Amino acid sequence: MTKPLLDMRRLTRDYTSSTLFGTPHVTRALDDFTLTINKGEIFGIVGESGCGKSTLARIVMALDRPSAGNVIFDDQDLFSLPEKDLTAKREDFQMVFQDPFGSLDPRFRVGRTIAEPMHVLARRPEKSEIRERVADMLESVGLEAAHADRHPHEFSGGQRQRIAIARALITEPKLVVADEAVSALDLSVQAQVLNLLMDLREKRGVTFLFITHNLAVVDCIADRVGVMYRGRLVETGPAQEVFEQPHHPYTKVLADAEPSITRFGRPPAKAPATGIALNGQGGCVFRDRCPLAVERCVAERPELRTMDKGRQVACHRAEEMAQRLSP
Ligand SMILES: Nc1ncnc2c1ncn2[C@@H]1O[C@H](COP(=O)(O)OP(=O)(O)OP(=O)(O)O)[C@@H](O)[C@H]1O
Ligand code: SF4
Ligand SMILES: [Mg+2]
Repeated sequence: MTKPLLDMRRLTRDYTSSTLFGTPHVTRALDDFTLTINKGEIFGIVGESGCGKSTLARIVMALDRPSAGNVIFDDQDLFSLPEKDLTAKREDFQMVFQDPFGSLDPRFRVGRTIAEPMHVLARRPEKSEIRERVADMLESVGLEAAHADRHPHEFSGGQRQRIAIARALITEPKLVVADEAVSALDLSVQAQVLNLLMDLREKRGVTFLFITHNLAVVDCIADRVGVMYRGRLVETGPAQEVFEQPHHPYTKVLADAEPSITRFGRPPAKAPATGIALNGQGGCVFRDRCPLAVERCVAERPELRTMDKGRQVACHRAEEMAQRLSP
């Protein structure tokens, strides 16, 4: 039976900023976001720029706090843990960032960079153990133990991202959050890094939350996918089925913008405004761009509901969408 590792419950994150005239402006980056990820799963999150993907990543990593909601990781509510216990828990979840050039400190040798997360470990390992673990990690990401003595500028983009992955794995975390981890890489290198992640899941049982704007990447690597729109989760399900037969109109827009899902590359196009204007709160957040929008979509916000084959969709007209696209 599948066991949940990460349970995100009704997460909301508001950012308040001031306009030019001093009036406060609130951006809701996450809006009532609920999702469970199972142990050993690769879960992909997709959505266009600004939909809240990185906000979600920061909250799951406990680098930021939600305005409301909970993150239950491995049966513990992260934000109700005392600071000391949260620090200890950090060895179980690590992150890989987008930029393989900016995320490694150029002043330090690679070995030191990879070993850095080990400082959060409750038990301080001996120097010899650290060296051994660094060497082991370098080899498991397809590099050589001797690379520990080199500096980041001596490596290519793909190799630097392998180094970043080695650093994320050094504490043997249960969960790795990868935020646009391959987006800056050439296509062939992207494929190599994706293969590496799948291999690490196989060999080490690591669970991945894999965030990207690129559907082809998710289609290649993820077991399940979640589609985000304006801070909300609008559809989840098995990755291939979601893209081949979207049940949410926004997923269809994304899938149509990427006609050949086998190619990695450009970000999805914005959907044109075709629906009912967004004037005021409430209703469906996609209605101004939705070709299927009806009056109910203005009056009532669609909640995420379970359909068949492990699919969840937040749309009043999901059944009609499913029927239209059924083979
Ligand atoms: N610190 C912040 N202060 C104010 N607004 C923020 C802050 N961080 C994010 N936002 C806003 O929250 C929304 C979500 O941003 P986020 O970075 O999570 O999106 P994203 O999906 O990761 O986008 P991208 O694909 O471009 O990385 C955006 O409207 C962004 O402008
Ligand atoms: S709820 Fe209405 S507006 Fe929203 S996606 Fe579904 S049909 Fe479109
Ligand atoms: Mg982002």
